[in-house]
Amino acid sequence: MKIGIFDSGIGGLSVLHEAYHLLPEQNYIFYADVDHVPYGTKTPEEILGYSEEITKFLLDKGAEAIVVACNTATSVAIKELRKRYDVPILGMEPAVKPAVEGTEQKRIMVIATPVTIREDKLRDLLHRVDEKHRVDLLPMPRLVEFAEKEEFDTDNVRDYLREQFSDYNTENYCALVLGCTHFNYFKPLYREFFGKETLLIDGNYGTIRHLADVLGLSLTNSPDNVVYFDSAHKMLCESNTQYFFSGKSISDEKTLEHLKRLHNRLEEVRKK
Ligand code: DGL
Repeated sequence: MKIGIFDSGIGGLSVLHEAYHLLPEQNYIFYADVDHVPYGTKTPEEILGYSEEITKFLLDKGAEAIVVACNTATSVAIKELRKRYDVPILGMEPAVKPAVEGTEQKRIMVIATPVTIREDKLRDLLHRVDEKHRVDLLPMPRLVEFAEKEEFDTDNVRDYLREQFSDYNTENYCALVLGCTHFNYFKPLYREFFGKETLLIDGNYGTIRHLADVLGLSLTNSPDNVVYFDSAHKMLCESNTQYFFSGKSISDEKTLEHLKRLHNRLEEVRKK
């Protein structure tokens, strides 16, 4: 099957990367809206407009299902996209439910973009599942900028995290929910602030498992295979993926090398 996956930028690559682990036999079209990233500080109307345009583009290219690999776009656009297009359209939302259900007492921190945190979708979810009011919400828009600059492990990122977490006693948290796909790249750095016992929870496994259910596909028996690429050429050949940046097909060596490095980073941090 041909599956379209989109995000404002390179965050969605973490969802695609999980798909390489769990559904390696499928074909993918990956779309990063690099002309408009970040979405997390835009208006809902703008984000809806971009999301509609991209969905149409992916369907025109033959996608049989769409994964909105962006919590922000999902918050504002998913209902409208489903009304408009007649293919399976899956979204992402911060994995609050597994965090609440999988832990008992301590607090849970959700980090996401300002739009995701403001929108009713997350508020409704908390209303449904956070009966004991254990969840705290923290917007972290600058992590999206750092990720887009491929700045994952620098003092700037550390200083930003330190400042953001400074109002919280991180020892009180049993889970940190990564409510933005761009935030996956920083997993080892969160560990510098939260203890080993704090769970880092992202929505990627759940999203691809759900995708498999909806499309009637079986997950591979070896989800922990290493997905590491020695060269951009190998990445293209092995992954059955067409990459687009805001409508432009990616074939130049420099951008492909960039995508390869990002996949390899995602592989390194996958189980942190
Ligand atoms: N990666 C996106 C998300 O999951 C959006 C980041 C942004 O563009 O602000 O929310």
